Amino acid sequence: MSLVSIGEELKRAQAGGYALPLFDTTDVQSTEGMIQALEEHRAPAMVALYSGLLERQNGRALAAYVRVRAEQASVPISLMLDHGASFEVVMHAIAAGFTDVMYDGSGLPLDENIAQTKLVVRAGHAVGICVEAELGHVGSGSEYQSFGALRKGFTDPTTVERFVAETGVDMLAIAIGTAHGMYQGDPEIDLDLLRTIRQQVDIPLVLHGGSGCSDAQFRATIENGISKINVATDLFRAAGAAVAETAVGGEASYHVFGRVATAAFGERVGYYADLFGASGRA
Ligand code: 13P
Repeated sequence: MSLVSIGEELKRAQAGGYALPLFDTTDVQSTEGMIQALEEHRAPAMVALYSGLLERQNGRALAAYVRVRAEQASVPISLMLDHGASFEVVMHAIAAGFTDVMYDGSGLPLDENIAQTKLVVRAGHAVGICVEAELGHVGSGSEYQSFGALRKGFTDPTTVERFVAETGVDMLAIAIGTAHGMYQGDPEIDLDLLRTIRQQVDIPLVLHGGSGCSDAQFRATIENGISKINVATDLFRAAGAAVAETAVGGEASYHVFGRVATAAFGERVGYYADLFGASGRA
């Protein structure tokens, strides 16, 4: 039984100079590919559901499925809520057995983000789970040239110490040049800003929007203080492409498509686990 709250594993990653991956799942195929690959690579990690997914009619059932698969896994796996959109969704996740949550107040004014995050941290800690928050705002890759590339949403380093001290948050997502989804152009990551933020606080720092970053960028962010990296889009594109290729080859079996998708998820998960230095840590 290896369902865990990720706090201790993240502390080990931070001390050891590697990063733990978080992968967003949406169904059985993606979950199976993730868990099988994490076991093969002996990598601790977080498997996450987006806030909106949990709110769907089948969201709680999917969470229960991931939870049981994590319990059966031979490596530490956290069931995490990703981008929790409200206090209510976070409570829903806690009731559904999530072991860690992200509350995303990054669209709120600073004081409001602090107030809401503080409330979530209080609730999360009361039941022994870790809480991640976002300071600054990681935008979308599809509007990268009009947002991230112009440094819009970047974390203001002068707010970091206060945010962490007042909220008591366990891990902090920061905006330093990445974006969610496929990038319009190439991402540019501000490592100086990362180093500055790293000096302000000692909790694990989180990089969102992993898909589309180069191997060198991942290595550099880890070397400069990132301990958790979220990846989603790349996995789903890889699985989609693998299924499409199989279909073009004349295959029409639904079961074969499922196996192909699971294998593609597993291949990408293993790749990231190795790249981030998480493999062999469990
Ligand atoms: P990508 O889909 O860009 O990899 O981002 C994932 C993410 O940050 C989820 O929180």
